[in-house]
Amino acid sequence: MSDLRYKPATRIDLSELAAALNKGYEDYLIPIAFTKDSVDRMIGADGIDLASSYVLESSSGEPVGVMLVARRGQVSRLAALGLQKNFRGKRLGHNAVTRALTDAGARGDRAMQLEVIATNTAAVRLYENHGFKVTRRLVGYQIELAGTPAVRTGWHSCAPDASLDIIAPLLPGDLPWQIARESIVSIAPLLCGFANAAGTAAALFSFNEGKGRIMSMAVAPDARGKGLASEMIGALIATRPGHWSIPAVVPETLGNGALANAGWRRSAISQFEMRRTFAPT
Ligand SMILES: CC(C)(COP(=O)(O)OP(=O)(O)OC[C@H]1O[C@@H](n2cnc3c(N)ncnc32)[C@H](O)[C@@H]1OP(=O)(O)O)[C@@H](O)C(=O)NCCC(=O)NCCS
Repeated sequence: MSDLRYKPATRIDLSELAAALNKGYEDYLIPIAFTKDSVDRMIGADGIDLASSYVLESSSGEPVGVMLVARRGQVSRLAALGLQKNFRGKRLGHNAVTRALTDAGARGDRAMQLEVIATNTAAVRLYENHGFKVTRRLVGYQIELAGTPAVRTGWHSCAPDASLDIIAPLLPGDLPWQIARESIVSIAPLLCGFANAAGTAAALFSFNEGKGRIMSMAVAPDARGKGLASEMIGALIATRPGHWSIPAVVPETLGNGALANAGWRRSAISQFEMRRTFAPT
């Protein structure tokens, strides 16, 4: 079967989209479960454009998979591509990526990018065959902290807005999609803030049922090189002992030292960020 029908994702509701994603990502390298609410959050945070995203169907209307595309200006991102188990390995992935690139070309995009788990051989090969090149490796970190909560002098919890005001102007322009300023601004209201009294260092994080996640952090240029990031991370996790992680979306060259100094270890999963540019017309 090489014919696929592309039904715009605007034509189905979010529960159906979550169900299609769950089938497309069945037996994925890491267990993943989409819900109507998590898909809704992902659309907002990552700038997914439902009009450029599709549910894939066979010519007889049978559901086959799903492809989500996010857009920011003239750059788009292949945010998800998942085929149902019985439709994998039949070159339908080629068909879908061709469609994504054709759409991007028709929109006048300058580039399309994506992230893929480094050990997902079929997906990496598929993207390479379509001209995507690895731009960098993205890694995650984790740490477990036992004990009772403690507040360290000079550091305080704050509203997410207060943290965002410190962090947003300090974020470099070339961060991976999911931790770029646009994503962080969009998810900040759902997060908690943490900062020092001088307002020279801040973090945005979530903490639920013993699990913490740091989503963004920054130190002002004048305050760098003095171990402030490690101190902040230590102070933050001390307030809420538990299992802390940073998802595998951080360039391996960034923050390595601060996290290692604070006792964090790298997660086993890493991702490749890949990019395909389009020749100017
Ligand atoms: C990844 C996925 C989209 C690929 O689509 P597909 O239709 O199964 O792949 P194709 O049949 O088009 O083959 C793509 C390439 O991978 C190769 N390939 C397929 N399965 C493979 C495997 N298990 N190991 C190594 N290579 C494999 C194919 O040979 C082909 O390469 P080639 O053109 O050089 O021969 C699909 O398998 C899938 O939905 N997987 C689950 C979700 C997922 O991992 N999504 C990607 C997230 S970034």
